[in-house]
Amino acid sequence: MASNARWILVSNRMPFNYNPETEELTTSSGGLVTAISGIKAKTTVIWIGCVTDEASLKRIEKLPRTKGATIYRPILVPHYQYDAYYNGIGNDVLWPLLHYEAEMLRFSRVNWEEYVRVNRIFAEKIIAEAKDDDLIWIHDFHLFLVPGFVKEKRPKLKVGFFLHIPFPSSEIYRHLPVREEILRSLICADLIGFHDHAYLRHFCSAVYNVLGISSSLLTIEHDNHITQLGVFPVSVDVQNFMELARDAETTRRMKKLYLTSRTQKLILGVDRLDYIKGIELKLRSFRCFLRTHPEQVGKVRLLQIAVPSRTDVPEYRRLKEEIERLIGEINGEFSTPAYTPVQYMYNSVDKHDLMALYRGADAIFVSSKRDGMNLVCIEYVCAQNLRDPGVVLLSEFAGAASMLGHVLPINPWDEYKTAEAINVAITMPLEERKRRHAPMLEFLTNYTSAHWAQTFMDNLAIHKESRFAASRTKFLGEKKVMDELKKKLKGKSKILFIDYDGTLTPIVQRPEDAILSKKTLELMKKISRLRDVNTIIVSGRNGKFLRDVLGDDNFSMGAEHGAKFFDVKKKKWQNMVNMEKRRWFDEAKRIMKDYAKRTPDSLVETKDFAVAWHYRNSPRIFSKFQARKLMGELESGLSNFPVSVIHGKKVIEVRAMEANKGIFINWYKNNMLHEKEGILIAIGDDKTDEDMFHMVNRNNGISIKVGEEDTEAQYRLSNQADVFDLLQDVILENW
Ligand code: UDP
Ligand code: G6P
Repeated sequence: MASNARWILVSNRMPFNYNPETEELTTSSGGLVTAISGIKAKTTVIWIGCVTDEASLKRIEKLPRTKGATIYRPILVPHYQYDAYYNGIGNDVLWPLLHYEAEMLRFSRVNWEEYVRVNRIFAEKIIAEAKDDDLIWIHDFHLFLVPGFVKEKRPKLKVGFFLHIPFPSSEIYRHLPVREEILRSLICADLIGFHDHAYLRHFCSAVYNVLGISSSLLTIEHDNHITQLGVFPVSVDVQNFMELARDAETTRRMKKLYLTSRTQKLILGVDRLDYIKGIELKLRSFRCFLRTHPEQVGKVRLLQIAVPSRTDVPEYRRLKEEIERLIGEINGEFSTPAYTPVQYMYNSVDKHDLMALYRGADAIFVSSKRDGMNLVCIEYVCAQNLRDPGVVLLSEFAGAASMLGHVLPINPWDEYKTAEAINVAITMPLEERKRRHAPMLEFLTNYTSAHWAQTFMDNLAIHKESRFAASRTKFLGEKKVMDELKKKLKGKSKILFIDYDGTLTPIVQRPEDAILSKKTLELMKKISRLRDVNTIIVSGRNGKFLRDVLGDDNFSMGAEHGAKFFDVKKKKWQNMVNMEKRRWFDEAKRIMKDYAKRTPDSLVETKDFAVAWHYRNSPRIFSKFQARKLMGELESGLSNFPVSVIHGKKVIEVRAMEANKGIFINWYKNNMLHEKEGILIAIGDDKTDEDMFHMVNRNNGISIKVGEEDTEAQYRLSNQADVFDLLQDVILENW
C-alpha cells in the first residue's frame, strides 16, 4: 500500500452553506457531511464538491490553509444544471427509488442528460487533480456515473465508491429507466462499499438481473476487471461527540433550555424533514401512546426537530403541511395550559444545542421508513451521561439497527407496538438503561468515522487490478509465446484433455449440427496414435453423441462433463457419479420445461447426470431475460442439492456436483496414469473448462483457453479456427 497516497474525497455536498448577506460559511446538515467531516486521515485529504455560485466558490477557495487540514476544491455548476441533476434526478428519481418509493419516481431524459454532464464535470475535476497513486473515494447517489467516467480516462487510478443510502431489492431497482448505465459505471470502481449486508446482496442481484454479470461473495468479475464489494457501516467522530456533550457550553445550554430541571419526560426526534424519516408515523405512534396510556398525559412530551431539506421538491412541502397538521391535531387533543405534548421546530440547531438536547432527552425516537444508516441515534448514544443514560427507540428499517444491538427496535408502521415501546422507554429502570447503553458506547468508541474511512481506504489501496491480469494469460498469437510453449512440450509425453463444442468444432446455431470436420477428425486420430500422447475428449455432451461423431476406436471420452467415462482400451463406459443422487433431476427438469414452454425455440436436453436448457435459437433479448430469471430460480430452488448450476454459452445446465471436468481430470490422473507419465494439457472454450484449467494448473500442466473471455488458463488462442494449427504444430509435429 502506498502509505503517503493522498485521499481525494468527492461528494455533491460540501460541508458548508454560504450566506450571501453575512458572507459567512456555516456547516451544512446531513449524515454524509457528518461522517466525512469526522475522518482523521494520516495523509493529505482533498475534498471535491460543488457549489452553484461564484461567491461561494471564491469564499471556499479563500479558506486559510492550515497544515494537515482538509483542502477543499469546489466545482462551480451553473444553477439550472444543478437543479436538473440534484433535484431532477437525485431527489426526484434516485432518492425515492432507492428508498423503495417507486411510485414517486418522476424521470425525465432532459434531466438525465444534465445528470450525465454534471457527473462528467466531477470526473474531469478528479482527472485533473489526481496523481497516479492517489486514492479516489466517490460518495453517494449523486455521482453514480463518476467511477465509469474516471476509469475510462485513467484506468489505473484506484477508485472507490460508497453508497450512503440503501440499495433496494433488485425488483425495485429494475424500475429505473437508466438502471444499466448506473450499474455499468459502478462496477468500474475498484471497491464499492455499503452500510449493510442486505444492501450489498441487493446490489449483486441487480447486477446479475440487469447486466447478467454474476458475483461471488464479495467480488464481481467482468471485462478483465475485479470489483471488490464490502460492508463498511458509517459512524461519527465518537470522541468529539463525547467531549462536546460534556463541555461547559453544552451544560450552559442545557440550563438555558431548562433541560436540567425538567418535570416532564422528554422524547427527542431529530430528522431532516424527509418522507423517508417517517415523522408522520412517529407522531401517530406518539398519539396512540397518549391515548392508550392516559396516565402519561401531562408527563411526557415529544420534541421534534425537523431540519428543512430539499424545499424545492413538492413532496417535501406537502409532507411539511401534513406533519404540521398532525401536530396541531395532537396538541389540540391533549394540550392543557401547562402542557403541550408535541413541541416542533422547523429549523436546524447549532451543535451545542443539539448536544444539550441529546444529553437532556430521556429517549431518542428514530422512526425511518428506510434509512441508509441514521447517525442521529449514534450521536445520541455518544452524548449520554453514563450515570443516567437515555434509551434508543430505533426503526428496524434504518441501517443502524444492524449496528446498535441494545436499542428498543420498532416497526414504525405498527403504531400500537411502537406506542408500547415508547412506554417501555420512558419507564425503563436506570439499571437496565445502563446495561443497554454501555455495550453500545463501547462498540462505538472502537467504531468511529476515522476507522470507517481507514478501513475503506486500506481495502481500496490493496485492491488488485485484475485476477486475470495477475494470472498473466499469454497470447499464443505472439510468436515468442508460441515458441515458448513448443519448447516446454518438445519431446515430453502428454495427456491431452480436449473439449468438443467451441474447441474442436465451431459453435453452431443448432447443437446437433456441431459435427467434427473430416480434417480435424483425421488430425485427432493421428495424434491419438502417437506413442507418447494420451488423448481424452472431455465434453458436456452425452455418451451416445460423442460415440456417434468420434467413433469408439479412437479416443477415451469423458461425457457429461466427466460423469461418464469411456475407456477406449476396454471399450466400456463407466459411471463416475452415484445414480441415487438424482433426486434433484426431476425438479430441475420441471422448472426448465416450464421455461422452454414460455421461450420460443428453446429446448430442454436431458442427460444421465445433467439437464440443460438451450436457448441459442430463441429471440435474443427475451431469452437473455428468461435465462437470468431461470438462473435465479434454479440457484435458490436447488440450493440444498449436490448440484452445480452453470450458465454457459446460451445454455443453462444443472449437473451433479461430481460431473465436473476438473474432478474428472483428477480421477483420471490418479487412476489411469502411472506416476510421471506425462504433462497434463487442457484445451477448452467454455466456463466448464475453467474446472479443467484449474486442475491442470495445480498439477503443473498446460492450460489453453479458446476465446476472449476471462480465464484461469495460462495461454489463450483468440478463436476456435486456431485450434487446428495448434494441435498440428504443438502436439503432432513438435518432436
Ligand atoms: N444535524 C445537523 N443539524 C441539525 C440537526 C442534525 O447538522 O440541526 C446533523 C446530525 O447531527 C447528523 C446529521 O445531521 O449528523 C443527520 O444524519 P443522519 O444520518 O441521521 O440522516 P441524514 O440527514 O443523512 O438522512
Ligand atoms: C443523506 C444523503 C447525503 C445528503 C444528505 C443531506 O445523508 O446520503 O448525500 O448530503 O442526506 O441531503 P442534501 O440533499 O441536503 O445534501
